[in-house]
Amino acid sequence: MKSWQTWRQLFLFALLTLVLSGCGIQELSTLRPQGPVAEMQFDLMKLSFSIMIGVFVVVMLIFTYVLIRYRKRPGQEGIPKQVEGSHTLEILWTVIPFLLLIVLAVPTVTTGFTLHKEYDNKEALQVKVIAHQFWWEFEYPDLGVATAQDLVIPAGKRVQFDVTSADVMHAFWIPALGGKIDTNPGLDNKIWLQADKPGIYYGKCAELCGASHALMDFKVEALPADEFDAWAKKMKAVQAAPATATAQQGQEIFKKSCLGCHAVAGEGGKLGPNLTNYADRMRVAGILENNPENLAKWLKDPQQVKPGNNMPNLNLSDDQVNALVEYMSTLSVKK
Ligand code: CUA
Repeated sequence: MKSWQTWRQLFLFALLTLVLSGCGIQELSTLRPQGPVAEMQFDLMKLSFSIMIGVFVVVMLIFTYVLIRYRKRPGQEGIPKQVEGSHTLEILWTVIPFLLLIVLAVPTVTTGFTLHKEYDNKEALQVKVIAHQFWWEFEYPDLGVATAQDLVIPAGKRVQFDVTSADVMHAFWIPALGGKIDTNPGLDNKIWLQADKPGIYYGKCAELCGASHALMDFKVEALPADEFDAWAKKMKAVQAAPATATAQQGQEIFKKSCLGCHAVAGEGGKLGPNLTNYADRMRVAGILENNPENLAKWLKDPQQVKPGNNMPNLNLSDDQVNALVEYMSTLSVKK
């Protein structure tokens, strides 16, 4: 291969690395912690990363020195003097990694205990997280409300999560706030998190759980404390009242075909996401922008949007889909 081709390839690889490292959403990054848990975890990352860089630099310096100092010089014959065994060196390269591991272990274990101690903070808001293939259910036992896909929390307040799964293993992860933790069927795992500022944070399922694992996203909406209280109150008192005739028709269809699995305002099944505040959500099925076209697309063929999910294709006519879309756009506690 000509040398300019090699250089061109190297350049392309370097460019690709740069472009790929720019990927990712700010609110989905562990490198921009937005709460105390994420900050503690980020501190640990910085510590281990600094140690890694230190080790790399020292090893490379010694390596370069040896390369130059002991290179073959013109006129040199035979192989250099062979050395075997050096107690000094062996002790040195056992003790140094040992010390480095201690420096890593102490803060890691301490942080683990600090986070654990806070599990039973009585001031914290309690949220029960139930993972499903491929969506998230959030219950607020103390407030008597439930939602799905968009987790609403108060900013600046601890939230204590009891996480479990309704089917297979998933993992609950909000990179900017901290985590992650496995959700196992039949087991309650605990984690607490806090968002310091109001905002939208992105959550992910972090355990391979089936065909649509990669599409098992959710959002976290951190509201100022008073807005959160108002939200919870409205969620509890909500009564969907369809305004137009089409919406009314949609409600009929919903009652007949959807309510068995999807609850609205305290009524209905729990097999699918609770839709009480569906119209306030940012996404349809957690992944598509929430607009009428995408909802229609989802209702017409859920498998096409999220392969392997449990929502059946109801074979709805266009008119039925339109009516349902109109009805579902009334399911809001904000509008
Ligand atoms: Cu649920 Cu991956």
